[in-house]
Amino acid sequence: MNSSRQSKKIVIAVDGFSSCGKSTFAKMVAAHLGYIFIDTGAMYRAVTLWAIENGCVENGILDEDKLVANLDRIRIDFRFNPDRGASDIYVGGEWVEGKIRTITVSNLVSAVSAIGEVRARLVAMQQEMGRDKGVVMDGRDIGTVVFPNAELKIFMTADPEVRAERRYQELLAKGEEVSREEIVENIRQRDHLDQTRAISPLRKAEDAIVLDNGGMTLAEEMAWFDEVFKLKVEN
Ligand code: DC
Repeated sequence: MNSSRQSKKIVIAVDGFSSCGKSTFAKMVAAHLGYIFIDTGAMYRAVTLWAIENGCVENGILDEDKLVANLDRIRIDFRFNPDRGASDIYVGGEWVEGKIRTITVSNLVSAVSAIGEVRARLVAMQQEMGRDKGVVMDGRDIGTVVFPNAELKIFMTADPEVRAERRYQELLAKGEEVSREEIVENIRQRDHLDQTRAISPLRKAEDAIVLDNGGMTLAEEMAWFDEVFKLKVEN
C-alpha cells in the first residue's frame, strides 16, 4: 500500500443491483486499502429477520405499522470476524449471518426497505459508521443518500441471468433447497421494487462510475478498481 492510500482516507460508495457481487467486491477493496467494509444490505435483512421472528409477518404479509412501532427494540451491531476478514451482523446480541440470506428473508426485504422509518434509522447508523471515513460501504443508496459527497462512487451492474445464476449457486452451496426459477423471479422482483420505491430508489449517482462485472473475474475487478483509484483519488 503506498503512502497516499494510507494518509488520505475516503468514503467509497458501492451501489447497484441485487446479486451483482457488490459485497465480494467491496470486501476485497476494503481489505486492499485497509478500510472497513460495511454491508448495508445485511442491515435491511437483519430488520426483516427480526420482523419475521417477532410476529410482524403473517402469511407472508408484512405488518408495517407493527414493525415501525417496534423499531426502537431492534438492536443491530457489527462485530469483526477475523476468519471472514469482515464484520458479522448481530441482532439483539444474536449472530444472524447464517439466517439473513435465506429466500424467505430475500422475498420480504424489499417491503421492509421501502419503509421510511426503517430507512431513516439505518441511514443514520450508516452515516455514523462512516463518519471517520476509511470505509467501503455497499448498498443501493450509498452514493445518492447516505454519502452524497463520497469521494469515490461505483455503480455495479450485470446481466440478470448472470446474477441469478450466481445467487443460485451460492444458495445451493449452503444447502438451501431452492429452484433456479424462484431465484430469477426474486431478482426480477427486487430490481423492480428497488428501482421504483418512493423513498431512496436505486439509481446511479450522476458522478458514479459504472462497473459491469458480468464477464469479469475477481482479479479483473480488482485491476479495474486499481486503475479507477489511481485516476480518481491518487491524482
Ligand atoms: O444487498 P442485498 O441484496 O443483501 O440487500 C437486500 C435488500 O435490502 C435489497 O433488496 C434492497 C435493500 N437495500 C436497500 O434498500 N438499501 C441499501 N442501502 C441496501 C439494501
